[in-house]
Amino acid sequence: LVFFFGVWLFNYFCCCGCCLTGIMFQDITTLLLDHKAFKDTVDIFVDRYRGMNISVVAGVEARGFVFGPAIALAIGAKFVPLRKPRKLPGEVISEAYELEYGTDCLEIHVGAVQSGERAIVIDDLVATGGTLSAAIRLLERVGAEVIECACVIGVREVKGQCRLNGKPLYILVEPRQIDNCC
Ligand code: PRP
Ligand code: MG
Repeated sequence: LVFFFGVWLFNYFCCCGCCLTGIMFQDITTLLLDHKAFKDTVDIFVDRYRGMNISVVAGVEARGFVFGPAIALAIGAKFVPLRKPRKLPGEVISEAYELEYGTDCLEIHVGAVQSGERAIVIDDLVATGGTLSAAIRLLERVGAEVIECACVIGVREVKGQCRLNGKPLYILVEPRQIDNCC
């Protein structure tokens, strides 16, 4: 059932490959247009994390903000945004990371998470794992216990899970290689 749902869900993603960079971009915006598909996606995460004493759902800017708050509300946790540089107004802690196409940085508000809180990290997609590993480092620096990272899409070809310092990674679908989309 999960497999068939995954295949069905995948049909909602717009996929395009870039011949010049070799980077394949995955877009979740078409998924959001379908109420049932969007709700089913959130519900899968909610069913997984409800009852696990998770008090922090940390969402990665920007697309982790689409799924994270809905999950947090449903499981009774707070939502903590992990934002790109110079977006948060208060005192922050920063972590730099490498992407397939450069470098970036994530920031968390000091005081948003208390030491010992149980956290999950939500994003739309994992590729190299650089983004999620920066999110894990941020949360651990403020004393949180990162229980798991969760994404809608996992690009296994680039072995993102290897960069998550042993933290579990939960993904819903793995995209096929698209050969004829340039
Ligand atoms: C994309 C995607 C993930 C990240 C995954 O975000 O939404 O957050 O890349 O890549 P990685 O596993 O190699 O780190 P991106 O920073 O490109 O843009 P966004 O702000 O639109 O989410
Ligand atoms: Mg992102």
